[in-house]
Amino acid sequence: MKKLQQLIIAGTLVLITACSATPKQSLYDEIGGRETLDHAMRLAVNRIYNDAQIGHFFKGVPKRHIHKELTDQFCNLIGGPCEYTGKTMVESHKDLNITDSDFYILVEYVQGAMRDVGITYEQENRILRYIAPLKSEIVYL
Ligand code: HEM
Repeated sequence: MKKLQQLIIAGTLVLITACSATPKQSLYDEIGGRETLDHAMRLAVNRIYNDAQIGHFFKGVPKRHIHKELTDQFCNLIGGPCEYTGKTMVESHKDLNITDSDFYILVEYVQGAMRDVGITYEQENRILRYIAPLKSEIVYL
């Protein structure tokens, strides 16, 4: 009986070790990594630049630049292997007088693009949870 107990304990320990050794997949990996994010941001940025209300904010700002910075930032926020080396949110948005409405228009483009590249509704919501707190660093500065 003692032997059986020892066997069960040993087996349980092996299982626990195996589970903790398996790295948990990040949200970044779950959605398909850089390729998915890159594609979503490309769609979103194109739509943002063409928007009648918020497009003007980006006059003179290279699309390529915003695309890269947004992709790096989102990648970093959702557990990807990227470093965000751009300006802080306050630095890049202060004095632009961005309103609540401007903010939600941009976020809706990002949401729409995420859906278009196959990110699920549930994954989209998890991504938005990382983005929402940035609002106070972007709006009415
Ligand atoms: C979730 C919301 C947002 C995120 C995550 C975000 C993120 C970023 C990032 C990463 C940059 C690049 C910073 C750099 O150049 O190093 C940037 C720049 C910029 N963002 Fe946003 N942004 C958001 C909302 C907005 C909104 C709502 C507007 C205007 C309607 C806006 C307008 C701009 C402009 C004009 C720049 C370029 C600033 C410059 O180079 O002088 N952003 N943003």
